Formats: sequence, structure tokens, C-alpha cells
Amino acid sequence: SAFSTSSSAYAPYNVKNITVFGSGLMGAGIVQIAAQNAFNVTMVDLNPEALKKGQDIITSSLKRVAKKQFPEDAAQQKAFIDKTMAQIKTSTDSEAASKDADLIIEAIVENLKTKQQLFSMLDKVAPEHTLFCSNTSSLPIGDIAKATKRADRFGGLHFFNPVPQMKLVEVIRTEETSQDSFDSLMDVCTRMKKTPVSCKDTPGFIVNRLLVPYIMESLRIVERGEATPQDVDVAMKLGAGFPMGPFELADFVGLDTMKFIVDGWRKEGKIDDNLVAPVKLLDELVAQGNFGRKSGQGFYPYN
Ligand code: CAA
Ligand code: NAD
Repeated sequence: SAFSTSSSAYAPYNVKNITVFGSGLMGAGIVQIAAQNAFNVTMVDLNPEALKKGQDIITSSLKRVAKKQFPEDAAQQKAFIDKTMAQIKTSTDSEAASKDADLIIEAIVENLKTKQQLFSMLDKVAPEHTLFCSNTSSLPIGDIAKATKRADRFGGLHFFNPVPQMKLVEVIRTEETSQDSFDSLMDVCTRMKKTPVSCKDTPGFIVNRLLVPYIMESLRIVERGEATPQDVDVAMKLGAGFPMGPFELADFVGLDTMKFIVDGWRKEGKIDDNLVAPVKLLDELVAQGNFGRKSGQGFYPYN
């Protein structure tokens, strides 16, 4: 019916326990901010080594945050880090880690089949009330949700890298996401001290739908010999107030990820082909294994 019968109008599911799948760059960031804001969090990955990597990402990020929050006070820094870490459990047992979850956030590899397999399994073992979310950058939320029988309790929570720093979360509702589920997701974002915006289930949602074609056109400027990457970066930082230029940003996001997104969208055929037309410069760097920051070399060198 159009009228909600739940006792709490705003947060019908009252999310307390969050389980995050994937302890990579994004998963670790999401776990961190959830823990910082008093949610009980379980971080799940395939093996102990991956979990250890996630814990290291969180520890070093928390050290930065602690130093900023409590400059010159080592004891308070340590207390803050210990308190946050105490909110985090780790697990390699997907089933056990889902038993108490009010909300599951998936941040595993960007592969539709893999995500569908995970959610199909979780649908059978997670409680009835548990909300499911994906942090996918480029796959349709509706396609992932199809693997479950809870499309009404399925949505997108799209965080940005670096998660502890970026204030935005895109909350994606499909045609089937219920109002209660959507309200709960918006509420979770606010309690994580993020600013949510709402978007339909479209390629790239809002941010990537604008950012990816912008980066691709920057590459074309260079490919046409009109300007150097350095000059384009300086131009966009000083002329448009962006914190990073498009080449710095492409290296930051990962050139392999950039290529994966545009190739995927081209195949899907839902957005103007010209916006995602291949660029040789990008394809070559990726073929050489130069993925940007994470590989030590992209448009710029990193060490
Ligand atoms: N936790 C973890 N990493 C942090 C961090 C934190 N709390 N704060 C900063 N960082 C990292 C940065 O990644 C970078 O890494 P290294 O130190 O290892 O080189 C470094 O810290 C830069 O931080 P600085 O302190 O020098 O700079 P800053 O704090 O002033 O600003 C920034 C850093 C917030 C990243 C800023 O440059 C910025 O806003 N850049 C644009 C980022 C952006 O557009 N992100 C979205 C990418 S698109 C996306 O995420 C969606 C997708 O689906 C692909
Ligand atoms: P990543 O490669 O750093 O981490 C992925 C982690 O998932 C790895 O630790 C891997 O072991 C784990 N994993 C794989 N399959 C799993 C499974 N079945 N169960 C549990 N864990 C599993 O990737 P990332 O950059 O953190 O990206 C994760 C997701 O977030 C992707 O969907 C990506 O598109 C999206 N995303 C990425 C960014 C970005 O800038 N990197 C930004 C926004 C969204």
C-alpha cells in the first residue's frame, strides 16, 4: 500500500550490524567509516591475507584521521584507533558473517557473475530483513539484484575513493527498491556522516556518468596533440577548481578500471557511443600493465 505501517517512519530497519564483503581499497574504507560511526561491522574476504591487507589499509588511514583529530596527543590518538578497531570483526566465512547482518554491502571484484553468485548464496543464508547493497561502479544494480528474491530490499550504495575523505554516497534505487529500503539506506549514509544523493539505476549513476566521459575527452585532447597531460591537469585544477586534474584522477582511479568501465558501457549500449569511444593512449597503457598509482606507473610515475 502507499501507506507505511512500520512504527518508525524514517528508519524502518534500524540498521545496527553491517557486513561488508571485500576488504580491498573500497571495502576497507567502508568498514572504517562504519566502525568510526558506531556500527558493528564484519569485514569478509576470501582469505586471511586479503583480510590482513584490509586491516592494514584501515590502520594507516585511521592514523591519518587520528593525527588530524588529536594533534600532539598520542594517547587520544591511540584511544580513537583502538575504539574504532574494536567495532570491527573479520571473517572468511560468508555464511556465519551474514547471520546477524541488518545490511550487507558488497565491494568485491567488478564482475557481474561473481557478484550474482555471492548474492544468490547470501539470499539463502541472510535473515529475511537484511538489506543488500552493491558498491559497483559500472554494473546495473538491477542485474545484480536479479540473483536474489529480495529485489525490494536491494539497492546501490556507491562510495568514492578515498572513502574516509570523500563525503558523497550515491544511493541507487531500482524500479523495485522499496521506499522503506531506500529510506534506511539514506539514514545509514547520514549516520556514517556522509551526504547521500539519490539516483536511478543508470550507467555511472551521477558522478561516473559525468566523470568518465570527461576523462575520456581529456585523453582525446592529448591524443590529438592539442595539449600535454601536465597542461590539461594544471588547467582543470586552476581553471575549474578540481582537486586533481583528469590524468592524475585517471591514474588514481586506475587505468584498467577506466578501460573496464568504458568497454562495458559500450557493449551495454545504453549511452552515446561517442562518449565512450576507445582511446588508443588508454588501451596501450593498459596493455603494457601501466595501470596508474597501483602499478607504479600510469600517465605519471609513482614509487
Ligand atoms: N584515508 C585513506 N587515504 C587517504 C586519506 C584517508 N583518510 N586521506 C588522503 N588519502 C590519500 C590519497 O589517496 C593519497 O594517497 P598517498 O598519500 O598514498 O599518495 C594521499 O592520501 C593524498 O592525500 P593528501 O593529504 O596529499 O591530499 P588531500 O587530503 O588534500 O586530498 C584527495 C586528497 C581527497 C584524494 C583529493 O585530492 C581529492 O578529492 N581528489 C579527487 C578524488 C576523487 O575525485 N575521487 C573520486 C574518484 S571516482 C570514484 O571513486 C568512483 C568510482 O566508481 C571509480
Ligand atoms: P579491490 O580489488 O581493491 O578489492 C576487492 C576485494 O574483494 C579483494 O580483496 C578480493 O579478494 C575480494 N573478493 C573477491 N571476490 C570475493 C568474494 N566472493 N567474497 C569476498 N571477497 C571477495 O577492489 P576495489 O577497488 O575495492 O573495488 C571494489 C568494488 O568497488 C568494485 O565493484 C568497484 O567497481 C567498486 N568501486 C571502486 C572504486 C575505486 O575507485 N577503486 C570506487 C567506487 C566503487
